[in-house]
Amino acid sequence: MCGIVGYIGKREAEPILVEGLRRLEYRGYDSAGLATLTGNRLHLRKKAGRVSELGSFLQTSPAPGCIGISHTRWATHGPANDVNAHPHLAGTGNGQVAVVHNGVIENYLVLRRHLESEGVRFHSQTDTEVIAQLIACHMDGDLVEAVRKVLSLLKGTYGLAVVSPRNPDLIVGARLGSPLVVGIGDGEHYLASDPSALTGNTQKVAYLQDNQLCVLTSDEYHIFDAEKSRVSALVHSIDWTPGESDLNGFPHYMLKEIYEQPEAIENALRGRLSDADSSAHFGGLNLDVQQLRRAERIIFTACGTSYHAGMVGEYMFEEFARIPVEVEYASEFRYRNPPIDQNTIVIALTQSGETADTLAALRESKRKGHPVLSICNVVGSSIAREADGGVYLRAGPEIGVASTKAFTSQVTILALLALFFGRMRHLSSIQGARMIDELHAMPDLIRRTLRCQSEVQRIAEKYFHVDNMLYMGRQYLYPVALEGALKLKEISYIHAEGYPAAEMKHGPIALVDASTPSIFLVPRGSIFDKVMSNLEEVKARGGPVIAIASEGDAAVTDHVMSRADEVIVVPDVPEYLQPLVTVVPLQLLSYYIALLRGCDVDKPRNLAKSVTVE
Ligand code: AGP
Repeated sequence: MCGIVGYIGKREAEPILVEGLRRLEYRGYDSAGLATLTGNRLHLRKKAGRVSELGSFLQTSPAPGCIGISHTRWATHGPANDVNAHPHLAGTGNGQVAVVHNGVIENYLVLRRHLESEGVRFHSQTDTEVIAQLIACHMDGDLVEAVRKVLSLLKGTYGLAVVSPRNPDLIVGARLGSPLVVGIGDGEHYLASDPSALTGNTQKVAYLQDNQLCVLTSDEYHIFDAEKSRVSALVHSIDWTPGESDLNGFPHYMLKEIYEQPEAIENALRGRLSDADSSAHFGGLNLDVQQLRRAERIIFTACGTSYHAGMVGEYMFEEFARIPVEVEYASEFRYRNPPIDQNTIVIALTQSGETADTLAALRESKRKGHPVLSICNVVGSSIAREADGGVYLRAGPEIGVASTKAFTSQVTILALLALFFGRMRHLSSIQGARMIDELHAMPDLIRRTLRCQSEVQRIAEKYFHVDNMLYMGRQYLYPVALEGALKLKEISYIHAEGYPAAEMKHGPIALVDASTPSIFLVPRGSIFDKVMSNLEEVKARGGPVIAIASEGDAAVTDHVMSRADEVIVVPDVPEYLQPLVTVVPLQLLSYYIALLRGCDVDKPRNLAKSVTVE
């Protein structure tokens, strides 16, 4: 999940590379570095720590030149220190090469031992240095050819960029399994792991596909396939405006993105609801009506927060489309070999569109002939491109590592798809029209939900010191319990678990004591009384209870308030839309608890935004 930025053109490379790394830092941030060229001199600067540490270092030791490559690292081999930071150098004098790499070279040890047996001395513990040493060994004046030869020796995944004083007017890039885009400018070109790094420089990008290599000069770029034939690539226009990736006055990206949820949901709905036929419309499913009607089962495959969104989708599809659904962890699904009948549609859910496990699960499903759709936020990303069709979230860049607006946007798109499939089968136009009205109301209801911020801050101040937290929900809110627990875990490092509320009786209730708060999602609904019974069981054992309840019915709210220690009230919405309002206080609670614990909310330890390795 590292970040790569390259630049070649007429401007000084250093500031462009550092700003690009800053925008990619959510992809990995345990070390950062860059290499620039002036004529036949290579300037290497790299440091453990955040991009800001590299920036400070460059203040005293700038790297001149109008061509360069840079990298922000999420360690896969070797600890986060200066030596293991990228770029990695190899060779001497004019034959030197500098390499930055995202991915995992699975046969790096065999290659390293062979090189060492031939007298090559390594300086780092990384797999990437093997690539640099191999290229240096194959350099006979043509960097492109040397890179090509080395790629054929590698097993695993890579998105990489290479420069050398021997060819000081070009950058070579290559991709297999880790994303890489070419940024197209006027008299300048860029390389990046994802287009957000290029915000403010260009909005025109061409995505490399697997087994492609690119050669950039300041005036042109060429892309080649594995047979060395030049290929053309579709040029996408990234519709993110420069300001969208900035904080815009918020203290952290996570808080900004929590508050962007109403607008993100408006964008998800825009142009996709049809009053004329009381249904939803999508421009890019690319499946014919018969394929959609014939669907006898749907499999959602995803990771992390996207998996939790898929769990909400399971309840939606079963209620409104009457289609059996399974939700599969992509990391499991890619290696299982379940008997799946041909009338199964696989839907990959992903914010980044680059999650390695989800991409692999998609490819495995396509290999078996299933139509595959993606629900994704990043235009032109690998999963979006390789799916047969899909729906974009239109949520705008999600920078905070903890996913927030992507979750609520995915749930919104899933509600639209459930309406769409339902109206092809059993849903009446009246039911469809009602769902359309209910969906249209959600952005303002989430704006209203956000007013709970100060109440949530007070509760966070009361509980931020705990070591464990339990989250309980049922039906549509069981996935929200899991999602709330994940949010708390990943940014505050508090141990937290989500359970179906009734499951407490079968063991987990042994965890309940005065130091372990339980969060109950207990809005009004068909099983409100059942969940209240589960809440009582926890109270009876002395566990503090924080309840998320519905506003409106005083009797219900009073009942919850009489039993819970803390109550956060959210708008009363139909059960299938309760995930959209109940998740908001959980997102805010994890944010404020993490702040109170001094954690880095946007870049939690050990994590990265896009997990592009297995
Ligand atoms: C969410 O808060 C996590 N950062 C993580 O679980 C994430 O949802 C998961 O890695 C999947 O990412 P994707 O949606 O980009 O595929």
